[in-house]
Amino acid sequence: MQQQGGTMRNSPSYGSSGGHSRHFDTILSPLVKTGAGASNRSYAFFSFFLFLLLGVFLTTRLLLDPSVLIAKETALVTETLKAGESPKYPQSTKLITEKPKEFKLNCPAFSDNATATCPRDNYPTSLLPGSREADSGRSPPATCPDYFRWIHEDLRPWEKTGITREALERANATANFRLAIIDGRIYVEKLREAFQTRDVFTIWGFVQLLRRYPGKIPDLELMFDCVDWPVVKAAAFGGFEQLTPPPLFRYCGNNETLDIVFPDWSYWGWAEVNIKPWESLLKELKEGNQRSKWVDREPYAYWKGNPTVADTRLDLMKCNVSEGHDWKARLYQQDWARESKEGYKQSDLASQCHHRYKIYIEGSAWSVSEKYILACDSVTLLVNPHYYDFFTRGMLPGQHYWPVKEDDKCRSIKFAVDWGNQHKLKAQDIGKKASEFVQQELKMDYVYDYMYHLLTQYSKLLRFKPEIPKNSTELCSETMACPRDGNERKFMMESLVTHPAETGPCTMPPPYDPASFFSVLKRRQSTARRIEQWESKYWRKHNQTRS
Ligand SMILES: *[C@@H]1O[C@H](CO)[C@@H](O)[C@H](O)[C@H]1NC(C)=O
Ligand SMILES: *[C@@H]1O[C@H](CO)[C@@H](O)[C@H](O)[C@H]1NC(C)=O
Ligand SMILES: *[C@@H]1O[C@H](CO)[C@@H](O)[C@H](O)[C@H]1NC(C)=O
Ligand SMILES: *[C@@H]1O[C@H](CO)[C@@H](O)[C@H](O)[C@H]1NC(C)=O
Ligand SMILES: *[C@@H]1O[C@H](CO)[C@@H](O)[C@H](O)[C@H]1NC(C)=O
Ligand SMILES: *[C@@H]1O[C@H](CO)[C@@H](O)[C@H](O)[C@H]1NC(C)=O
Repeated sequence: MQQQGGTMRNSPSYGSSGGHSRHFDTILSPLVKTGAGASNRSYAFFSFFLFLLLGVFLTTRLLLDPSVLIAKETALVTETLKAGESPKYPQSTKLITEKPKEFKLNCPAFSDNATATCPRDNYPTSLLPGSREADSGRSPPATCPDYFRWIHEDLRPWEKTGITREALERANATANFRLAIIDGRIYVEKLREAFQTRDVFTIWGFVQLLRRYPGKIPDLELMFDCVDWPVVKAAAFGGFEQLTPPPLFRYCGNNETLDIVFPDWSYWGWAEVNIKPWESLLKELKEGNQRSKWVDREPYAYWKGNPTVADTRLDLMKCNVSEGHDWKARLYQQDWARESKEGYKQSDLASQCHHRYKIYIEGSAWSVSEKYILACDSVTLLVNPHYYDFFTRGMLPGQHYWPVKEDDKCRSIKFAVDWGNQHKLKAQDIGKKASEFVQQELKMDYVYDYMYHLLTQYSKLLRFKPEIPKNSTELCSETMACPRDGNERKFMMESLVTHPAETGPCTMPPPYDPASFFSVLKRRQSTARRIEQWESKYWRKHNQTRS
């Protein structure tokens, strides 16, 4: 029973029957039916023979030419999107072209005043009149990207029981801070030190969310853990004692944990390594893509990072080009100390789209670099990940990325690069889909909307009245940004929300029904499996010609 809780982690609790795998047999099944349905015996024999021939032909073709199936997958996905009700990315139809009034920070009043407190009455407390939200006659806002549906799954452990204060308090075992939102103000109780400025920029994100949607974020209390690895083990809950898991927010999860995933600090900037807030970086990455055409880029798989943080990364280093081998990988070690001295000229993310393929590999857990790699319209070669963050569950193999085996990286990378160089249009398409996904579905507007919906749903589960924590401090943009300097100050000013949103948040999609949930999982699995099959076939052939 205990194991059950662990294995069913992200699945809705419908049981595991149903769902069918779309494999070669289902693709060929219409032909089978035609053959068996013929009444004449010899005709039946003839068509069976024809079917065999066709089957052989199709199978060989499918196996040899992956692009056929990829195209099929893509078409299927596009169809389901079209069937959806509301437009995915509607153009802003706002008639008002007037620029909204901006509310900047008045830092001089704060800089040398240790007793300064958060100002009142210097910022609107509700959405502006004339905004789409306030003006209810307008067309409804767009439906949020599909990955928002995982909010329902992440909160499912508390669906029946709700969240009691007792459950929340148990999350203090590892949390770095407790955050309360009461009447649109933020109070933070620091519980333990966090690494670098992770906690600071995460809290800054909450503060900006409140500036974006003033008057719309409900009262709540939550616990936040800034450490990389998820800790709330699903297997420890759901047993006979009926203990509910502690609700604990963090940046990533895996299939054995119940931590609630939330956007990481880097969306507002990573001061220590000079990574700018996401909104400005996203523009630069778009421009970076336009600097060179995909076909003109180096036809290799590129990776740059710190290999020492995980064994799997050290293992990847063995795939680097050497005198004996060329696995088509070009791998580099990031030297943060040197680059810090040289002003990060070598680590400018926007000018790292010079290879046709870019490798993503996890570090000690998920890595913030994934979005930067996907944003490049080179093909992302994704070494099979163990962790997910809030958006990655919206991506599909063969559509947004190319899966790479974790236990056979070099061979897998070489196959991917050779495949892509032979199927340039398909490969470019995968690169483009990923960069479009990041530019559209992961733009800052949606990061805030994700936070909005997650917090709103979360607050509905609370079975106690949120209160201002005993040892907390009220935090606002002024008290956070004004006393700082350097990158911290710069990135806060850059990511400051200067006026309330002009439109309401996107509409939350409903939970997955069992059928569509399993079809998403199956689609992901079957594409990945098929790519694996091509890969073994490729290597079998390669091995034969060598021996
Ligand atoms: C969870 O992931 C691990 C490795 O990441 C895998 O071995 C295991 O089978 C997965 N469990 C489930 C229930 O999917
Ligand atoms: C410092 O802040 C307090 C509280 O906000 C305010 O009353 C006081 O006038 C400020 N002092 C100066 C020198 O700005
Ligand atoms: C966490 O809460 C438990 C139960 O309320 C309490 O016993 C414990 O002292 C708390 N731990 C910390 C670090 O605050
Ligand atoms: C990988 O090989 C290239 C080319 O020989 C070299 O410049 C680079 O330093 C190597 N990377 C690592 C991490 O050793
Ligand atoms: C408040 O903080 C102090 C010192 O940091 C600590 O000793 C005390 O236990 C805290 N009180 C509560 C209610 O957490
Ligand atoms: C090809 O040969 C290598 C060893 O040379 C082996 O590890 C690999 O499994 C072989 N692949 C296939 C598909 O036979």
